[in-house]
Amino acid sequence: MQLWLDTAKIEEIREIASWGILSGVTTNPSLMQRAGTADRKTVTQQIAEVVGGPVSAEVISTDCEGMLAEAREIVTWSPHVLVKIPTIPEGLKAMREISRWDPPQEGWPVPRVNATLIFSPNQALLAATAGAAYVSPFLGRLDDAGHDGMQIVRDIVEIFSIYGFDCQVIAASIRHPLHVTQAALAGADIATIPYAVLKKMIQHPLTDKGLKAFLDDWAKVAGK
Ligand code: G3P
Repeated sequence: MQLWLDTAKIEEIREIASWGILSGVTTNPSLMQRAGTADRKTVTQQIAEVVGGPVSAEVISTDCEGMLAEAREIVTWSPHVLVKIPTIPEGLKAMREISRWDPPQEGWPVPRVNATLIFSPNQALLAATAGAAYVSPFLGRLDDAGHDGMQIVRDIVEIFSIYGFDCQVIAASIRHPLHVTQAALAGADIATIPYAVLKKMIQHPLTDKGLKAFLDDWAKVAGK
């Protein structure tokens, strides 16, 4: 499973990328607001340069024509960019259209869509059928609403496997490290993880305690 960061803050991305474990990044309008910028193009290009892998940039339009107009521009920003489109009827129309586009430049991949705001297996089935290359089930928001968000991820992974959909599952709206473990066990292709959760994933008190004991013991013997 690939580990992506769910943030538009470049300093967070640089720090986690320096660990050598980061494969991609997802942004959305709320994350742009938290990063304090409306300059999607510059932020997306900066992130793409740091990560060298997929970066999702979300459209603001809610009608197909508007989404397509935004997507036409977004796909020129970087060969790494994914166009993030909400999973609504107008979004499905846009996904179908974008999935037929040629690469914006020679040597670049074909435009790829990340279908976002997915809360049911049927929405994922529709998005994959419409040509989305990625689907993003928001498991944390489902948990918040009293549902089992991870079961949606499991169901989508199983449906895509049964029918051989060429569509990757991004476990999104992750709230804590256990969600990442469960997403990996569910067979999600990717988990897009908030910075604070990724930092928690590396922490364990027994690691700190064990390291301190090793260093203390070494100091005793080496100081003899
Ligand atoms: O990638 C989707 C994610 O940003 C949504 O997370 O925490 O706003 O539910 P959250």
